[in-house]
Amino acid sequence: MINHLGIIVDGNGRWAKERGLKRSEGHKAGAQNLRDLILYMSNKKLVNYLSLYVFSTENFDRPADEVNYLMDLFIKWFKKCQEEYSKENIKILFSGRKSLLKKNVVDAMVKLEQRTQNNTGLVVNFCLSYGGRAEIVDATKKICQKCLAGELDINAIDESLFSQNLYHELPDIDFLIRTSGENRISNFMLWQVSYAEFYFPKTYFPDFDTEKLDEAILEYQKRDRRFGKVK
Ligand code: IPE
Ligand code: IPE
Ligand code: MG
Repeated sequence: MINHLGIIVDGNGRWAKERGLKRSEGHKAGAQNLRDLILYMSNKKLVNYLSLYVFSTENFDRPADEVNYLMDLFIKWFKKCQEEYSKENIKILFSGRKSLLKKNVVDAMVKLEQRTQNNTGLVVNFCLSYGGRAEIVDATKKICQKCLAGELDINAIDESLFSQNLYHELPDIDFLIRTSGENRISNFMLWQVSYAEFYFPKTYFPDFDTEKLDEAILEYQKRDRRFGKVK
C-alpha cells in the first residue's frame, strides 16, 4: 500500500504536438485524465494521500495565453468537481503561493477546500503556483516569526517541527511518478521526497491511464526500501 503518491503531471504539450494540436488541447486532455485517475484511486482506495504537481512557480514564465488557458481550466475544473468530490468523500488541499494567483483562481480554490474540508477519504493535494524551494523558504519564515514573537525556542526546531510548518503537514512521499520521460524533479516537494522511490515512464500524461497506473504500482511493490538500514 502506498501511503503518499506524488505525480508530476508532464507531457501535455508534446502529446498535443504529436497530434498536430494546440498545447491547450493537451492540457484539456491531461485534465480529463487526471480527473479519471483521481476517481479511480479514490474508488479503489489505492493510496491515502495524492500530491499532484499541476503548475509550478516557474510555469508563470510561459506565454501569457498558455498561463491564462491553464488558470481558466483550473477554475472550471474546481467548480465542476465540487459535487463529485463531496460525494466521493475526497478532501482537497492546495499547496503553493496563492499571492501569485489572480483572485478568481484563489476563490475557486478556497471554495473547494472549504467544501471538502470535513471529508475523510482520499486526500488530494494540488501543488499549484508551487515550488519546493519556495515551500521551504515560506516554512522557514513562519518558524522565524514564531521565534521572534517568543512563541518558539530555537532549540525546539527539529525535522518534525519543520514539517508542521510546511504548507500542509503531510506524510513523506513514498512513490513519485513523473510522466513524459523526463528524469528530473523540477522543484517538486523537495522536503517530502527525501526517501521516495522514483518512476519515470515515457508515456505523456494524457495517455497515462488507469492501466499504466496499475503497472506503476506493481513496480513500486517490487522496490526494496531500506531507509539507510541493513536488512
Ligand atoms: C505538464 O505538461 C503540464 C504543466 C506543466 C502545466 P507540459 O505543459 O509541461 O507539457 P510538455 O512538457 O511541454 O510536453
Ligand atoms: C514541471 O513540469 C511542473 C509541472 C508538472 C507542473 P515542467 O514541464 O514545467 O518542467 P521542466 O521545465 O520540464 O523541468
Ligand atoms: Mg513539461
